[in-house]
Amino acid sequence: MLIENTIILSHRLLKGGYRLLTLKSKRIAPMVRPGQFVHLRLPSPADAVLRRPFSVFRAQAGRLAILYKTVGKGTQAMATLCAGDEINILGPLGQGFPNVRKDTLPLLVAGGYGMAALYLVAQRAPVKGIVFVGGAGADDILCADDFRRLDWDVRVATEDGSAGKKGLVTRILDAWLNKELHGRQPEFFACGPNGLLKAICKRVGRGGWDGWISMDRHMGCGLGACLACVQKVCKRDAAGRETWAWARVCTEGPVFACRDIVWD
Ligand SMILES: Cc1cc2nc3c(=O)[nH]c(=O)nc-3n(C[C@H](O)[C@H](O)[C@H](O)COP(=O)(O)OP(=O)(O)OC[C@H]3O[C@@H](n4cnc5c(N)ncnc54)[C@H](O)[C@@H]3O)c2cc1C
Ligand code: FES
Repeated sequence: MLIENTIILSHRLLKGGYRLLTLKSKRIAPMVRPGQFVHLRLPSPADAVLRRPFSVFRAQAGRLAILYKTVGKGTQAMATLCAGDEINILGPLGQGFPNVRKDTLPLLVAGGYGMAALYLVAQRAPVKGIVFVGGAGADDILCADDFRRLDWDVRVATEDGSAGKKGLVTRILDAWLNKELHGRQPEFFACGPNGLLKAICKRVGRGGWDGWISMDRHMGCGLGACLACVQKVCKRDAAGRETWAWARVCTEGPVFACRDIVWD
């Protein structure tokens, strides 16, 4: 983990309050693994005292990109930043997704900006898979073309029907699992709202498959010290007996195996 003063290379409004922020990062960018995040400090403490966590969307030679939605004070202040401004980041943080295995069919499932956490999974995977993406409307379907350019099959669902099939993303996923899985071994990688993650874990458990989810939590330190971000997880002893414990999303996560999450 490093701390780096980065320079904003570009900052672009995409659609529906989503922005793409690209930073010059010589030291952190090359270290990033899929699913890891950076903790970003806003230039003025008046905007937000605490850092804000964001998944790394892209990381390549000396640059790092974040895809974010303006939701509150911190992200509203972020939206005013311009190319050339300096921004301090801490990272890469957290446990990312495991490597995609060659012997499985990777299925990525995302809601809204959850797409950002999954792009590096697709880019670095040794095999191509399918991306199921959902959102409230067409404006919430982000970077689908970036996945298509990697030759991944992208399936879209929106709740209002303005893009792809009408309904929740789990609807198109279930239809695909029923008709097109054909006995192959899927492995799930998901990021999005809790309801979606819970729905994925349910399907993964039922199918006896492997699955990984990236959890979104309010964070304080991002470094495992403040316990602002805890999640109940399942612990198994040598005899296979199960109990539960708290895990810190910032350090033991944000990516967890579906079988380890205890949903309250
Ligand atoms: C590991 C991780 C990766 C993330 N990656 C991204 C990303 O790639 N793109 C992106 O747009 N956002 C991402 N987020 C969420 C992002 O950190 C928050 O949206 C941001 O901190 C909000 O800051 P704010 O000051 O604008 O909002 P605040 O004023 O702090 O909050 C505004 C509203 O959003 C809610 N909120 C704030 N933070 C969260 C959160 N973490 N989870 C659920 N609700 C929240 C608050 O309850 C409130 O209703 C990620 C969060 C985590 C933990
Ligand atoms: S944010 Fe402080 S322990 Fe996770």
